[in-house]
Amino acid sequence: MRQSKIRRMALIDPVLLKTRLAAAAGRFDVDALEICDSTNSELLRRADGGAPAGTVIVADRQSAGRGRRGRRWLSAPESSLTFSVLWRFSGPLTRLSGLSLAVGVALARALTGLGARGIRLKWPNDVLLESAGDFAKLAGILVELSSDRRGAQAVIGIGLNLSAPAEDLGQPVAGLNQAMPALPERHAVLAAILCELQVVLDAFAVDGFLAVKMAWQDANAWDGLQLQVSGDGQIVQAGRCVGVDKDGALLLDTGRGIEQVLAGDVSLRRA
Ligand code: BTN
Repeated sequence: MRQSKIRRMALIDPVLLKTRLAAAAGRFDVDALEICDSTNSELLRRADGGAPAGTVIVADRQSAGRGRRGRRWLSAPESSLTFSVLWRFSGPLTRLSGLSLAVGVALARALTGLGARGIRLKWPNDVLLESAGDFAKLAGILVELSSDRRGAQAVIGIGLNLSAPAEDLGQPVAGLNQAMPALPERHAVLAAILCELQVVLDAFAVDGFLAVKMAWQDANAWDGLQLQVSGDGQIVQAGRCVGVDKDGALLLDTGRGIEQVLAGDVSLRRA
């Protein structure tokens, strides 16, 4: 009895969501699932079958949620918001550099607009919560791109912790409930994110990452700090963070010059 009550409370109601989306309702077509393998995988399949731009899949549970760099992504229905959005752009894939950073800007704006404090961005696509100089992961973004002769397609997956997951994920994690006095109802959270996403994606379609570069830098959690970049267990680059370039590459001042970081896991370099 209690189980099913929790499940029903958690499932997103697309009709209620439409009312929360207000003027943006026409841009999105939302399907809420109790379970799927991964909302990104499900949306990729639907995109192959011709699903329109603006299709959103939100799931209570994922049996095979995917994170960056082949990692797993765990989420619980009562404490997370797990969804993917399909968007299409004209022109080649190269025009989409920096898209996942732009999605971070939309998330940060939406959460801050809901009253959250301490929302920061970590390159390339994590949303962190800063508290007393410590950082914990609040949300992750996984953007999967493809193209054909009609243009480029992005499946934008977002996993947001409404409260901090109980399991040990090997890194500090936080919930949105720690960033504000009272957590808004989850339809309001999802609607706020979709509304900001639409604004940012429309601007991105015209000006690319430059549309939100300054906003990303303003929210950069580790601006001016000494960072290291690892890949395959090795430190591959290190230097002081001096921002991002017009395509969203991270810029490090190594002491010998400015180096671009195009991939890898970034962490703070301890003294
Ligand atoms: C990361 O930080 O590694 C990115 C995590 C992205 C997780 C989301 S949850 C919704 C969507 N479906 C997936 O399988 N992954 C993304």
